[in-house]
Amino acid sequence: MPKNDDILSARPAKDENTGMETALRPSSLDEFIGQPRLKENLKVFIQAARTRKEPLDHCLFYSPPGLGKTTLSHILAREMGVNIKVTSGPVLSKPGDLAAMLTTELAEGDILFIDEIHRLNASVEEALYPVMEDFLFFINTGQGPGSTTLKLAVPRFTLVGATTRSGLLTGPLRDRFGIVFNLGFYGEAEISQILERSARILGSRAEKAALELIARRSRGTPRIANRLLRRVRDFADVRADGVITAAVTQAAMTALEIDPEGLDNLDRRILLAIAEKFNGGPVGIETIAVAVSEEQDTLTDVIEPFLIQSGFLKRTPRGRMLTPKAAQHLGLKIPPPQELF
Ligand SMILES: Nc1ncnc2c1ncn2[C@@H]1O[C@H](COP(=O)(O)OP(=O)(O)OP(=O)(O)O)[C@@H](O)[C@H]1O
Ligand SMILES: [Mg+2]
Repeated sequence: MPKNDDILSARPAKDENTGMETALRPSSLDEFIGQPRLKENLKVFIQAARTRKEPLDHCLFYSPPGLGKTTLSHILAREMGVNIKVTSGPVLSKPGDLAAMLTTELAEGDILFIDEIHRLNASVEEALYPVMEDFLFFINTGQGPGSTTLKLAVPRFTLVGATTRSGLLTGPLRDRFGIVFNLGFYGEAEISQILERSARILGSRAEKAALELIARRSRGTPRIANRLLRRVRDFADVRADGVITAAVTQAAMTALEIDPEGLDNLDRRILLAIAEKFNGGPVGIETIAVAVSEEQDTLTDVIEPFLIQSGFLKRTPRGRMLTPKAAQHLGLKIPPPQELF
């Protein structure tokens, strides 16, 4: 059985890179569930750009992992009727990589999707500024007094950037996006709708109550919801003639050690460490990372946003603190915060 950390992590897993995630990915804005305001706005921007026969303005999507940034980028291309080229911050390691992409791979109006855009290095980012503003790429040739700058016109395209860490984006880069959206966690009803659609695509029969049970444990994250659905489907296939019932779902969740709030072992280890080793906090995120032997980035990008949003953890200027809700959920008594002298 896979480790729980793998099940609940919102990071893409292997099977998702081999087609399953693609199969479940909505391909139009109408199929995209939730995020109503974002959808309404995007529809207007798309229609306006299409009517004017112009490329869509540059877009930036930011959110914790698994909430639909990549999905939306592909939907944008489809709705605009253009091609999309996909790359990422770490892949574009020097300005020349960007130049090659812009001049050989893109046509007028196409979308260039840069995932993890917060990881662009400074020289590529600087080369991007005039590209985003004026569709001009400047190339420096030679060095010293004899050096010249060549100006290269690139097709008018749309840059779509995605990041889980908008805080790491520089001001000048962020300011060059005309459209900026923050995707929030999904509500349980929205996740249930996503699960209904996914179950249909997977050809599984599922009780409504079963999908609701999964939705409640999906951390407001479509990727996690779909992954849990596939794991529950395994249990259903083996133990319940393929029908996803509430009973088989409940049994699967117990087997996977996912509690009714959607917390897994790692979440519980983190909350327990703060309670037991640090008196409930406040404690710095680096210290927590060491205490549970996890990468600090994983804690801040993947795990903490949900724990904070669902009221188990509080971020304070002096560090992270356990909330009374977390103490109650774990059946712990936390001492009252120590007075500061
Ligand atoms: N609004 C939605 N409606 C239906 N399914 C969705 C929605 N958003 C995401 N999904 C599903 O969740 C999966 C993960 O979404 P996606 O890959 O777009 O997330 P992401 O924000 O790009 O994550 P990461 O930060 O890890 O790149 C998709 O394959 C899709 O099946
Ligand atoms: Mg993505």
